[in-house]
Amino acid sequence: MSATPHDALRAWFLGPRAENADLVERLVTEAVRDHVFWRRNYHPEDGAVIRETDKRSPGYEDAVATLTQELMGLLAELKRDVPFFSGRYKGHMLWQQTIASQVGYFAAMLYNPNNVTTEAAPVTTRLELEVAAQLARMIGYEPARAWGHLTSGGTVANFEALWIARNIRYLPVAAAVACREMGLAMEVTRPDGRTAGIGDLALHELLGLRNEDALDVWHALRSAVPRAEWHERIDRHTLAWAGYQEYTRELARQFGDPLPDGVVLVAATAHYSWEKIVRSLGIGSRQLVFVPVDRHFRLDPDALWARLTALGARRTPVIACVSVCGTTEESAVDRLDLVLEVRERAARELGFSFHVHSDACYGGYAAAVTRGADGTRRTAAAIRADIGTDWPDDDWLRAMAALERADSVTIDPHKLGYVPYPAGAILLRDRRARELVAVDPPYLTPSDERGGEERFIGRFIFEGSKPGAAAAAVWLSHKVLPLDERGYGFLIGRTVAGARALHAALGDDLAPFRLARLPVPDINVVCFVATHPSLATLAELNRFNEAVYRQLSLNKPGGDPEYIVTRTRVTSPHYDGAIEPVLRDLGVATHETWQRDPGGLVVLRATVMDPFLAERKPATDHVAGFVAALRRASVAALGPESLRGW
Ligand SMILES: Cc1ncc(COP(=O)(O)O)c(C=O)c1O
Repeated sequence: MSATPHDALRAWFLGPRAENADLVERLVTEAVRDHVFWRRNYHPEDGAVIRETDKRSPGYEDAVATLTQELMGLLAELKRDVPFFSGRYKGHMLWQQTIASQVGYFAAMLYNPNNVTTEAAPVTTRLELEVAAQLARMIGYEPARAWGHLTSGGTVANFEALWIARNIRYLPVAAAVACREMGLAMEVTRPDGRTAGIGDLALHELLGLRNEDALDVWHALRSAVPRAEWHERIDRHTLAWAGYQEYTRELARQFGDPLPDGVVLVAATAHYSWEKIVRSLGIGSRQLVFVPVDRHFRLDPDALWARLTALGARRTPVIACVSVCGTTEESAVDRLDLVLEVRERAARELGFSFHVHSDACYGGYAAAVTRGADGTRRTAAAIRADIGTDWPDDDWLRAMAALERADSVTIDPHKLGYVPYPAGAILLRDRRARELVAVDPPYLTPSDERGGEERFIGRFIFEGSKPGAAAAAVWLSHKVLPLDERGYGFLIGRTVAGARALHAALGDDLAPFRLARLPVPDINVVCFVATHPSLATLAELNRFNEAVYRQLSLNKPGGDPEYIVTRTRVTSPHYDGAIEPVLRDLGVATHETWQRDPGGLVVLRATVMDPFLAERKPATDHVAGFVAALRRASVAALGPESLRGW
């Protein structure tokens, strides 16, 4: 009998009822025992510090008793935690973790490696770089050119991406000033393909070069100057060194023009962390420009073009455009292929370019669906046949394949990678960009030692100390579930099938209640609004959905909800482009009334990361169970009179 992912799936998780408890116990015990042997065999001549006779002392026994007692207390407390493992959990973006990642984390945690440098983590630093290379290969980055590493999560990974994007954008200005001071002539390629002397470009032109051209000129400049003089002649002119205030004064002196406010374009569905990121980088919230989304909750490429045209007319530099692959609320996958087309058009027709980042923190692992066992891209038809759904269409595949052309991509193993926290990842298409954030401390391996760069990865990373255990967790999980149709591709395909089954079932007759569904999701988050004929206004509808949410969340009065979902609010102007069909379906508010209401529309949200949802046998059918629970929750929310006459 040949091995199939279908069977393997049953070995990947502890299981909703801890069905694989024996396996986990065996592997964890193995990890502890193996670690014990390691300690015992490390300089055995050193002898024991804690002797058996010590263990009989009252102080020792007391300490053990306290530890045991307090652990029991902690274990009891933890029972009040969230049952993420259950088929009843459809809340936030998490479910069970793979056994591989849990055991990998546990095993490495006993060693407590610190992945800031190989001096503190010789093994797991290598594993971190390996898993980043695996993710880079999955999305289609050229291995020799790309680079990536793990972070504590998506927010930090996105922060780093924008930090790098911002530094690249201002690089040509620093290069031009340095060239001017040194009397150097240097050629650059403009976005439209023509070349020019760097000294001949106006400020707004310098701020609109393509990333690769900016990095080329930077490297050419560094090659022309001895390393010992880099700081004095080149780096001193960078924004990273001078800071915004001095930089603005310097530009006014050099170009007769202060630094124009650079903007960051983000899809209107972007995660709220982007707001934190622009604030912390000193870019400012005011410079965060939201691009409207379309009816599928995907960034609207026409709206992006309109924004770029307006910004170009004002000569406002665009630091980056952030497209989302798997939005937090709807799992929508932006048409990144079209976003990149718009960037090309801007380069040709408007004369400027910018960094394109894909926030694939949630959806990135879905790229595994596009990979066959041999690493080649699969066709949409082949994937559909395999999963047995009408998903994905060719456009989805084009959008995912376009990840290979984004300048940076962030993907969180601790989301659709089913790996314990903390594990995010940032991937750069052009590894040279990491130099723009590099900082060397005196006490860690210098980067110019042979192989030093990869030994002290902390020099390129915002965070310092970070858990090598997280790298081991991701690494072991990727070993067991490859990033293709046999592993993560299969797993995520099952969740999509489950999400679609759920979306279809929410259309069932729940009279007198009804569910207005948002479009079929691009991945696996199903959103809907519950309604009842007695609800006549948006405010009533919102109150009702809040009450349904309370019934189906840990906030349920009296506790113990049947199922667990989350809710969100769809507000104007971010969702202007998407709301029309939903409002029409609900029939309680016009576009204008919704726009005027700061509370927007309350939407219930079920995240389907449970790969077993689509499989109705042999356990509880959580599709039918969820729909029935929704009806009960609706009755509880509106009162028994809501059923009168039905
Ligand atoms: C699309 C997206 N980006 C970024 C983040 C932030 O990730 P983290 O919570 O790991 O910082 C999230 C979190 O849900 C997300 O969904």
